[in-house]
Amino acid sequence: MINKNLIFLLSILVLLLNQVHVNAVAQEYVPRNIDVERSPKNILVGSYVGGRSHLKPMLDVTTILIERGHNVILLTSGKYEPSSEYPGLKQITLGSKSLTAKNDRRINIHKEVDYRTMGKFMELATATYNVTYEKFKNAAKEDNIDLFICDALVNQACIDVANNLNKPLVGFTSFMQMMEPKPYKSDPMYGCNISLENESFFERFRCTLIQPLQIAYAYGPSIRKLNDIKGQMNINPVSEKEPKFSLSLVDTFFGFELPQSSAPNVQEIGPVLSEVYPPLTPELSDFINGHIRVLYVAFGTRFYTTIENNNKILQSLYEAINNKMVDGVVWALSETSKDDFSPTLNFIDGTQVQTLPILNNEHPHIHITKFAPQFAVLNHTNTKLFFSHGGAGSTHESLYTGTPMLVLPFGGDQMGNAQRLETAGIALSLNKNALDVKDILNKVNVLLNDEHVKKNSKRMKYLARINSNRKYRAADLIEYMLYSSGLNEYLDDDFLKEWIPAESRMGFIKANNLDVYGSLLIIIPALIGIAFNLIKHTSNSLFNRKKSKQA
Ligand SMILES: *[C@@H]1O[C@H](CO)[C@@H](O)[C@H](O)[C@H]1NC(C)=O
Ligand SMILES: *[C@@H]1O[C@H](CO)[C@@H](O)[C@H](O)[C@H]1NC(C)=O
Ligand SMILES: *[C@@H]1O[C@H](CO)[C@@H](O)[C@H](O)[C@H]1NC(C)=O
Ligand SMILES: *[C@@H]1O[C@H](CO)[C@@H](O)[C@H](O)[C@H]1NC(C)=O
Repeated sequence: MINKNLIFLLSILVLLLNQVHVNAVAQEYVPRNIDVERSPKNILVGSYVGGRSHLKPMLDVTTILIERGHNVILLTSGKYEPSSEYPGLKQITLGSKSLTAKNDRRINIHKEVDYRTMGKFMELATATYNVTYEKFKNAAKEDNIDLFICDALVNQACIDVANNLNKPLVGFTSFMQMMEPKPYKSDPMYGCNISLENESFFERFRCTLIQPLQIAYAYGPSIRKLNDIKGQMNINPVSEKEPKFSLSLVDTFFGFELPQSSAPNVQEIGPVLSEVYPPLTPELSDFINGHIRVLYVAFGTRFYTTIENNNKILQSLYEAINNKMVDGVVWALSETSKDDFSPTLNFIDGTQVQTLPILNNEHPHIHITKFAPQFAVLNHTNTKLFFSHGGAGSTHESLYTGTPMLVLPFGGDQMGNAQRLETAGIALSLNKNALDVKDILNKVNVLLNDEHVKKNSKRMKYLARINSNRKYRAADLIEYMLYSSGLNEYLDDDFLKEWIPAESRMGFIKANNLDVYGSLLIIIPALIGIAFNLIKHTSNSLFNRKKSKQA
């Protein structure tokens, strides 16, 4: 009691004293100098995979660097022409014989895309490694590159050139498990769930030991071949102790990504979104303004599915309107053509509906279009649900606009995204191999009416919005590499000392004090042994004494 009163009096005293202090000096303020000294630097952005949606987040970060006066060069495969979308960005192409060229075609969603596909990508990348390496090296020399930003996905040439020229290297991905893997997390890419938290012992055994071995087995030949090629080309192998990237930027955010700890030089900077987006076309604007509960459907720019599935999806949309779940549907067909539907939809009750009039926009409440300005559609308050493939870009846009999602994941990171969205409580997902109209309708109904989904969407919208500013932090950190830690004077001994946890230098056993705990395996049995012997000894002598007394 006395203590409490005393603390109370002291606090008042402290407050009063502070007041006096503030009053004495609070007359005038001068600005803090927030300028950073800058000179223009040359930055190379490299991606072997390429493709607009894959490159976009990286380019949105480099746009900030261009605005700050730096020169940015994009080196990637394919025909992507960023000049109109990203003015000031110079592009050099890796040539058309690479992965993207092969991948530019439409992709059937029924192909399994997991770590084995990555293995195929690695084989392709390995076959052209020598050519790609030279292109990166020449670009780096010609343009006097100061810093590399390398896409983390099958991009060994970019990484090796940066490390061999001793330049700071920033890695970029949306896949956290690639940059900072955790033993309690995994991904459907690797054949497991995103979280192992509630998995059985045997499932954790499979995901911790069996799957990694299978992956190593699948990647092994490519890695050995790559090392041979590097040997022939006299490329220094980068020591395993060094971190692969000086700085890893991960385009994701807590709330969406499951929480975890990470090293200081691994930074979550997502969701990276552009500052401006194309507006609704007058046609779309009329349609969406004329309906108050719109379902938007889009499965990415490259994917297509079977006629049977397209029919099921169209039938679900048609019935969702008939059942008054929604009053309007917008479907951006993209790679799906009007020939990818059968001429009639057959309903369970025997009725038939012609598809062609629907596809030709004769249905008053279904709007079919080749492409739609996706962000603007999601951004409209009348758009209530997004039926999507769950690609990273679409997911971020949907979270940002607070639109719940029905996800039909095809492969790659989409399966994991679907699980993350479900965990966040704002989405339900479908199985691409077992599409069912009834199932789709049930899920649409839940997503539109469940109070939890509404609450969670609001929460995620807020998180996505505050985190969407972190692309400026990404640019700041890249500049930090350019002006401080990445300078030659730091590269020799002090490089990244401030960022790299001791863990990586100590090794697994020491870092986790396993040797200390291990010593218990000797100490405890020894102590038990001694105690046991003592007891035996004393009881023996007691016994002997008793015996001698009795005798
Ligand atoms: C690159 O390597 C392939 C075989 O892996 C070879 O056929 C080709 O000639 C090499 N190209 C150059 C420019 O060295
Ligand atoms: C975890 O994986 C199993 C099968 O591997 C699947 O049935 C289950 O739905 C997954 N859990 C989540 C949360 O997706
Ligand atoms: C695992 O189960 C616990 C307890 O039911 C729950 O709180 C937690 O969210 C679950 N984790 C995941 C990843 O589903
Ligand atoms: C998004 O919506 C806001 C108002 O809700 C509007 O000011 C903004 O222009 C919209 N942006 C796009 C790209 O549609």
